[in-house]
Parts: sequence; structure tokens; C-alpha cells
Amino acid sequence: MASVLVASNRGPVSYMLGEDGELDARRGGGGLVSGLSAISSQDSLWVCAALGAGDREAVRRGIGEPGVRMLDIAPEVYADAYNGIANSVLWFLHHHLCDIPREPVFDAEFRRRWESYRAYNHAFAEALAAEADEGAAVLVQDYHLALVPGMLRELRPDLRIGHFTHTPWVSSEYLRMVPDDIVEELLWGMLGADELGFHTWGWASFFITCCSQRDDSTGMSNGVWPSGDPWHGVTWHRYGVGKGRTRVRAYPLGVDGDELRALAHRPEVDERLARLREEVGDRKTIVRVDRTELSKNILRGLLAYRELLTAHPEWRDRVVHLASAYPSRQDLASYREYTASVAELAEEINAEFGTADWQPVIVSVEDDFTRSLAAYRLADVALVNPVRDGMNLVAKEIPVVSEAGCALVLSTGAGAYQELREHALTVNPFDVSQTAEALHTALSMPASERADRTKRLAAAATALPPQRWFLAQLEALRD
Ligand code: F6P
Repeated sequence: MASVLVASNRGPVSYMLGEDGELDARRGGGGLVSGLSAISSQDSLWVCAALGAGDREAVRRGIGEPGVRMLDIAPEVYADAYNGIANSVLWFLHHHLCDIPREPVFDAEFRRRWESYRAYNHAFAEALAAEADEGAAVLVQDYHLALVPGMLRELRPDLRIGHFTHTPWVSSEYLRMVPDDIVEELLWGMLGADELGFHTWGWASFFITCCSQRDDSTGMSNGVWPSGDPWHGVTWHRYGVGKGRTRVRAYPLGVDGDELRALAHRPEVDERLARLREEVGDRKTIVRVDRTELSKNILRGLLAYRELLTAHPEWRDRVVHLASAYPSRQDLASYREYTASVAELAEEINAEFGTADWQPVIVSVEDDFTRSLAAYRLADVALVNPVRDGMNLVAKEIPVVSEAGCALVLSTGAGAYQELREHALTVNPFDVSQTAEALHTALSMPASERADRTKRLAAAATALPPQRWFLAQLEALRD
């Protein structure tokens, strides 16, 4: 039993099953892992899904980390919930990525998958209900588990339930394409929580607008807006899933500067940095690091780089674009196609401008944090141009680690824009020409200005490090 519980699809550890039958544990990093380290593992439990064959085998053999419980959900149910609903429908809605002439389609097949999404959420709610002490605090994470708060409240009305959304939240206009009963189930699922957290007040207010625009008969349009600072949140009266109130607030996750700098100065990072320096020579560097993710806008980033080399030929052979774009969600055809298009466009740019001793774009497809940290240290310019992004921690990590100062070209669609815009070069992510010009300005920026901006960016990026982000939500729940 635990007094603090976290629930998320992906847990802090996953297992790979080797050909010899051995299980190899891989530990992940990220905000939640460092956040949860703020409390003792004896009081806490992290509930997550078994993601693949290795995880399921670990559950079967009873292997696991203390303080972590993996749920072995039937593979077909998991695939429908994770690929079929969470990543194909909810992710596309929240990021406004739908290919409207074709997607989404709400038909019998969708309804079948939605059943799986329900079942998967219910498995989490049951596990949490079984493991939580009387009055325990439960912090549920993200769009995969949007129905858990409502389900859990029905099972255990004594618990204090929080839910945090790491993505943007869909606009009410865009949400109109979803059938009413599904929207209501989703919103009521979320409103089962005592506290709803978002990375920015903008995403939080989108959620509130989605609720307030529902028909009065749903009982959902009853928000009470406080006067003054939105940091104190909006209290929402709940009528559907047990009477009560839900407070909606912004908790903008930042990075832990000391921890990140220590990681970035390990000998293996020094060694990668030396190799990168050899590859790049005395040229300037434009660095980006992303999953190959549709919302990250990697193609328009490459088009902007191509336009930079065309409009400002003085940069030819004087700059290298280090683009780390590692494959993600390859079960989905649109992601496989996108990954191939990124590789193709990078090749085209190299063929058009490259010379015997200059490769204009170097794409790395490995998910290798050591290399990313080395690239962060080397970066003269960071390109972070997502079309829409909950926060984007790369925009916060680079200024903290950068050695000589790094100019940040930042999309207005990133949650990080809210805190970093003053010291970044901000761009409309769809405007390729504006992005190309911002790259030129960033490359041309005097070193002293770059260093000064970087210092201010780093201060803003470390304002709410993971442990404080986590504890702030816990305190709010216990309040
Ligand atoms: O932003 C939402 C999020 O869950 C992030 O926390 C994470 O970077 C990403 O999506 C992971 O996606 P997946 O687990 O599908 O690889």
C-alpha cells in the first residue's frame, strides 16, 4: 500500500528480452523520474503498463523494481488503446494534426477501440484503488489515462486525485469533430480529479473552454472563475461523477540545472563532444533534438535551413545542421512515412549544397542522450519549431548546457514559448521564410548578446525543476 501513487503509460523502467532469454532492464530519465525522487520510495508506488514482450515476461517472472508495478494488459487491448486511440486520435486532436479529409473517422471500428481504451483505463483505476492507502494522493499522467480520475473516484471516493496533461489541450472548435458522448466521457473522466494540471495557462484555459461550451444539460458548464492571478487556478464544480470541485492550474515543468550540467560533463559526453567537433570543424552549428514526431515540424525546419543556404549563400560551408531525429511510434504508418520524408529531404539538401568536405545536414537517428548533451554543449543555434507542443524540454535544456551561448529559435506553438519568448527568436512554425531569417539572425548574433540571452533563458528554464513541480502538485492535492 502507498500514500503517493503515480500512474503513467510508460514507466521508469522497461525490459528487453534477449535471444538468450535474459531480461535487460533499461531505466528511463525525464521529469517524472526526477520528480518522484523527491519522496521516499517506501511511501510511493508507480503504476505503469507492460509495453512489450520483455515487460510482460518480467511481470510473468515476478521481476521488477521496488516501488514500480507493471500492469500486464492483454496485448490486443493495449495496442488498440495506445496505438488506436491515444496516439492515433487523442494525440492528433490535442496537437491539431488531423488529416481532415481522411481522419479521424468515428465508426464501429473506432467504437471497438474506444472500448479497449476504457478497459485499459479501468485496469489502471483498479490497480490504483487496490494499492492506495486511505486518503492517498494519486497523480495520473497524460492523455493515455484521461478516464482514470473519474473511474478511480467511483471506486475510491476517499482518494485525492490529480491528473497532469503533458500535451497541449485541443481547442473547443477542433473538438467539435468528436461525437458528443465521447467528448463528455473524456471531459467527465478528467473532471473526476481534484486537481488538473497543464504545462501552461493557455492549455488549461483551452480545457476550461471545452467544458464551458458544453450544453447546460450536461452539468459541465459551471465553472467559477477566480479574479486575479490565473496561477491560483480555476475551480470547477463537478456534478456528474460525485459532487465536488476540480481545480485547474498551470505547473510549467522546468529542468534541474545542476543535475543536467553534471550529466553533460561526464567523460563520455566530453568524448562525444570531441568527435562532433572533429566532424564540424570550425563551422557554426544549428542543433535540433526530437523524436521523429509529426508535431515537431522537422520537415519545415529542414526547408528553412535550405532557404537559409539559398537566401544567404555566405553561410555555405560555414554552418552544419546537426539534426537528431530518432524514430518513434513506428507502428503507425503516418510516422513511418514522416521518418522516411525527413531522411529524403536531408539527403536532397546534402546533394544540392554539399561539397567534398562539407555535409550541410547530419541526421542522427539514434535515441542517444549522451550525443544530445554533446550537441547541446556545442550548439551556436538551437532550432525548436514544433507546430504545437505541451512544453518542449529541449528548449529548456539547451540554454542550461550550452558552453559559449546559444541563440534559441523557438516556435510560438511550444508551451516553452510562454516562459522563454523574451530571450528567444520566436517564429510562426508554419512560416518557413521567417524561420530561415531567424536562423540567419541567430547565426549572426554577436557572441556577447548570445551569452546574455542564454543566461536569461537558463534562469527561466530552471524556475520550476521536476522535484518542485512534483511537490507543488502533491501539496495542492493535500491542501
Ligand atoms: O508529451 C507526451 C508524452 O507522453 C511525453 O511525456 C513523451 O515524450 C512522449 O509523449 C512519449 O511518447 P511515447 O511514450 O508514445 O513514446
